[in-house]
Amino acid sequence: MNEMMKPRGQFRAHAYEASDDVGRNDARNETMGDIIAARFSRRALLKGALAVTAIQATVSPLAMLASNPVHAATPSAFSFDEAMAGVDETHHVADGYDMQVLIRWGDKLFTDSPEFDPMTQTSDKQRRQFGYNNDYVGFIPLEGAPAGESRALLVVNHEYTDEHMMFPGIVTIEDKVPEGAAADAKPEPTLVVAPATKDRVDIEMAAHGGTVVEIRRREGAPWSVQLDSPYNRRITAETPIEITGPAAGNARLQTKEDPTGRSVKGTINNCAGGVTPWGTYLMAEENFHGYFSGSLPSDHRESANYKRLGIPGASYEWAGFYDRFDVSKEPNEPNRFGYIVEVDPLDAASTPKKRTALGRMKHEGAESVLAQDGRVVFYCGDDERFDYIYKFVTSGTFKPNDRAANMDLLDSGTLHVARFSADGTMEWLPLVYGQGPLTSANGFQSQADVVIETRRAADLLGATKMDRPEDVQANPKTGKVYAMLTNNTKRKADQVDAANPRAANAFGHIIEITETDGGFASSTGRWEVLLKCGDPAIASVGASFSTATTANGWFGMPDNCAIDAEGRLWVTTDGNSPKATGRTDGLWAVDTEGEARGTAKLFYRVPVGAEMCGPEPTPDLTTFFVAVQHPGDEGPDYAAFGRPSYFEDPSTRWPDFAKNMPPRPSVVAITRKNGGKIATTE
Ligand code: FEO
Ligand code: CA
Ligand code: CA
Repeated sequence: MNEMMKPRGQFRAHAYEASDDVGRNDARNETMGDIIAARFSRRALLKGALAVTAIQATVSPLAMLASNPVHAATPSAFSFDEAMAGVDETHHVADGYDMQVLIRWGDKLFTDSPEFDPMTQTSDKQRRQFGYNNDYVGFIPLEGAPAGESRALLVVNHEYTDEHMMFPGIVTIEDKVPEGAAADAKPEPTLVVAPATKDRVDIEMAAHGGTVVEIRRREGAPWSVQLDSPYNRRITAETPIEITGPAAGNARLQTKEDPTGRSVKGTINNCAGGVTPWGTYLMAEENFHGYFSGSLPSDHRESANYKRLGIPGASYEWAGFYDRFDVSKEPNEPNRFGYIVEVDPLDAASTPKKRTALGRMKHEGAESVLAQDGRVVFYCGDDERFDYIYKFVTSGTFKPNDRAANMDLLDSGTLHVARFSADGTMEWLPLVYGQGPLTSANGFQSQADVVIETRRAADLLGATKMDRPEDVQANPKTGKVYAMLTNNTKRKADQVDAANPRAANAFGHIIEITETDGGFASSTGRWEVLLKCGDPAIASVGASFSTATTANGWFGMPDNCAIDAEGRLWVTTDGNSPKATGRTDGLWAVDTEGEARGTAKLFYRVPVGAEMCGPEPTPDLTTFFVAVQHPGDEGPDYAAFGRPSYFEDPSTRWPDFAKNMPPRPSVVAITRKNGGKIATTE
């Protein structure tokens, strides 16, 4: 989700920041939005009468000249006929592929789970059902399947809740002057959400966290969820979690409920994540600041620490019912969030662990790769404008045949932060107590203080301030690492640097790092910009897609990514919309090697209002899992649709399209019609 969850009155709009910024910073986009708004009326949308090609024509007429040159020229590592970019109420995939909605918000996870009924939802029901706003998706193959059958665990994060899309009867529409506009600006129809009740907050808390669920598939048949699997579990904002690593037990983590500083209730805002080489599931706590309310005196020990993280964000109303989310009542609770959480998915009774050695920040994800010497390297983005890219290198080495020996690898190692130089070199600076400025002279008494205040430690080391680092993923086949920088419209011209080359960066970019000697544990490397994103047909955008990229192939706002078993890069996006780019978010294949480098092709796109998360190709490449997050939630972009979207009147009812059923975040399994490997000729 976007970096800043701000209350907008009572309405917290997912896409508010990015879309609004994009619209403000690119005059061409305003025009585009107006044109699309006129064509893409709400009536047309609801009737399904939208002509996708008409939308395209308004967006990038120049790029319409060549319909699919990539497929014809084929230096590309990807073989598929590109999907069409656009906006409508459903999802679309490239020709020759099937889409299966595998599991939706509210679906049963256990044999005794209640059926989903959005009109009568309770927290008890929600705890036995798939959570809201699926983000990270990990696929962990299970042994012991009968011949011709595949078994696996799907591990899925539930990042946050959208009350106005989830709950009936809580929205009113009032004409209001938009936030930040001049007082005499024209009022717009605005969503106002009723104050929370305890029952509602309890459902929200139960809809957060993660899911572990077993899935099976007979060769050639669709995947199915195994309700009787002993592995199935829900993790929520109330699940007991152990705190481990350098900050465990530190006085700054001790609270009334937990004087030990070693046990915390729940995990929140789990965005992307990872699966470790030893088969555990990592959940990254991202925008945790939004759940805290209240205030601290300015001279309080934690005031500066919290200010650096935007705490209290007060986007949710949980503090009204649970004191631990009110910093004036429980000043240390926010120090217990912002970590990477490790879950053993093979033991549904196991206690998840917050691994503080990986630092405390707005963690986007934690994808890993093995270094040549067997140490394990985790790459992490801290998703905020002007924040940093990190990597954690374990002290111990991975033991392939001894799972138990790997289970605490994440408690000791070295966290590093990236500094990029204009000459194309880079350094990974260690965040180690006692080294450089990380001493008592700067208020650090131990490694616990370094990890609790990771951002301040990185500030002192002189790390490079990036344009919102999201997913960072290594390619073990090439030794390269890809970092998604989603956007940063606040970067001023005098803040531009080589690694963040555009002021008012509305569309983001992708950096490619080549670690020295291909060593992922290396403390130095080289880097270059792989792609500057946005519409290449608009010169002022300054996008750098290859000329083979079509009108469908370009995208803005890269967010998550995956490297598949063939070593190919796939990118998903957050923030494309009628107003921003004339298209929905989606999954794009991006060539990184040879002549085709910098060529992107659209493989799958989401329904209106949604963000594209996941993405997880299976090791055998026969299935690509993607997570469709917040379908129908356009935030302030509703101006392009005529009016706001909410439970009673959503802009789409995907995937059910049933009367009175709101849109439901869902995981989709994409397979090839002939059963072959995705995007290959096999
Ligand atoms: Fe939750 Fe940075 O995306
Ligand atoms: Ca994300
Ligand atoms: Ca990823």
